[in-house]
Amino acid sequence: MVLTTASTCWYPQGPAFGWGLGGSRGAASAAACSPSDPAQLRSARDDIRELLKTTFCHPILVRLGWHDAGTYNKSIEEWPRQGGANGSVRFDKELKHAANAGLVNALKLLQPVKDKFSGVTYADLFQLASATAVEEAGGPKIPMKYGRVDASGPEQCPEEGRLPAAGTPSPASHLRDIFYRMGLNDKDIVALSGAHTLGRASPERSGWGKPETKYTVYAEKYAVDQDAFFKDYAESHAKLSNQGAKFDPPEGISIEHH
Ligand code: HEM
Repeated sequence: MVLTTASTCWYPQGPAFGWGLGGSRGAASAAACSPSDPAQLRSARDDIRELLKTTFCHPILVRLGWHDAGTYNKSIEEWPRQGGANGSVRFDKELKHAANAGLVNALKLLQPVKDKFSGVTYADLFQLASATAVEEAGGPKIPMKYGRVDASGPEQCPEEGRLPAAGTPSPASHLRDIFYRMGLNDKDIVALSGAHTLGRASPERSGWGKPETKYTVYAEKYAVDQDAFFKDYAESHAKLSNQGAKFDPPEGISIEHH
């Protein structure tokens, strides 16, 4: 069944997510979605803000958005085979990739939001959660757009191995290989790596979500100039979140009030 005219998703009865938790995993794969609904996107963002306040789960939400988007291969034209921000990381097949270890917890955290707002695609939900987490942690405002269409089944998941590995023998060339494949550049690599400040801050979780939370990065320019880092980070993050995304409408949906 495919709905093309309604602004909501259709799901068969049953749990919306499988994630190897013992329940039926059919619903996520069978969902046929039309693009996200702007009002529901805003409400979902409110709920994500609440979730962040109560659970301090900023890093894992950022990581989830990155791992959905970061499988993008710019030399494959066909969507969704090209990978990227299409929500495919929700399927067990991709979630089981070694690089995604632990991300099931991010999906579990977002399940209630998805259940409440069926008019938000998975692909949008993951990017919305990531951008909101960065902003709520005191990071920059990210110029996001929404309207991402979802990959519809596990057969559309990318093969394992598209995300960068830690601790390779030549890290710089490995990172360049991976990020250039995504259509990103050296500046994007450095700026986006600044997201790891969130993970490293985890022992002091009580500090997250407060406006005074600071990002620190090693790159010299960013170390002395937080405005420059925030500006570059916001641009690179938005760029990453659009990798491999098929927008409907093509120009995307803004949820900011003008
Ligand atoms: C540059 C290549 C990258 C490598 C090799 C890498 C590798 C890793 C590894 C090994 C972890 C630890 C995971 C764990 O034990 O839970 C991690 C955590 C994390 N990564 Fe990356 N990463 C990369 C890029 C990025 C990017 C581009 C972003 C986002 C823009 C990002 C966001 C995060 C966050 C927020 C965490 C913390 C997750 C948590 O604490 O739950 N990473 N990364």
